[in-house]
Amino acid sequence: MNNIVWHDHKITRAERSSNKNQKPCLLWFTGLSGSGKSTIANALDVALHERGYHTFLLDGDNVRHGLCNDLGFSDNDRVENIRRVGEVCKLFADAGLIVMSAFISPFTSDRRMVRKLFPAGEFIEVFMDAPLETCESRDPKGLYKKARAGEIKHFTGIDSPYEVPSHPEIRLDTSQNTVEECIDSLIAYLIDRKLIASK
Ligand code: ADX
Repeated sequence: MNNIVWHDHKITRAERSSNKNQKPCLLWFTGLSGSGKSTIANALDVALHERGYHTFLLDGDNVRHGLCNDLGFSDNDRVENIRRVGEVCKLFADAGLIVMSAFISPFTSDRRMVRKLFPAGEFIEVFMDAPLETCESRDPKGLYKKARAGEIKHFTGIDSPYEVPSHPEIRLDTSQNTVEECIDSLIAYLIDRKLIASK
């Protein structure tokens, strides 16, 4: 970075989060379209909000309307999408928040890149491991149908790859478990890691 010098803030990340009586972290939901990322991330957002935590949720479909509205679905564009989103998540965590993100994020190297932005234990990869057949049968936006008809190119799971996480912190299968069960697992994990208090 030529001629650009990092400027340290007077208030640190730790000070910002201790003001809120919480620990910052990022729950990174990854998985196929229709695997339940947004549904579960939203439900967790509600559960944490109700417990009094200050949270924020970033979602692929929404971020692509603004910050990333210049990006499509080529491999390069997806890499750039995740790079930007990772940096934004880091900023929100630096502000002391518990952050949830819901992006397909199909490439292992990109998820690793975001992980490296966070201190150990603060990046929690949540793999939404619903089978493609389930995601396709849900088809909430009718996109799988279009992809099968060749009307959408490079659709993840159809003609664009999804690299399965090898060591996610949490694995959830919404074809087997209810939303409530998924939220219970996530809350139990956060309590176990002392990221939130038990109550
Ligand atoms: S990512 O691959 O770059 O992580 P992201 O999560 O931001 O993807 O966006 C995925 C959303 O965009 C999907 O939920 C779907 O609604 C929509 N979408 C449109 N075209 C595609 C495509 N070719 N592949 C995957 N998702 C697509």
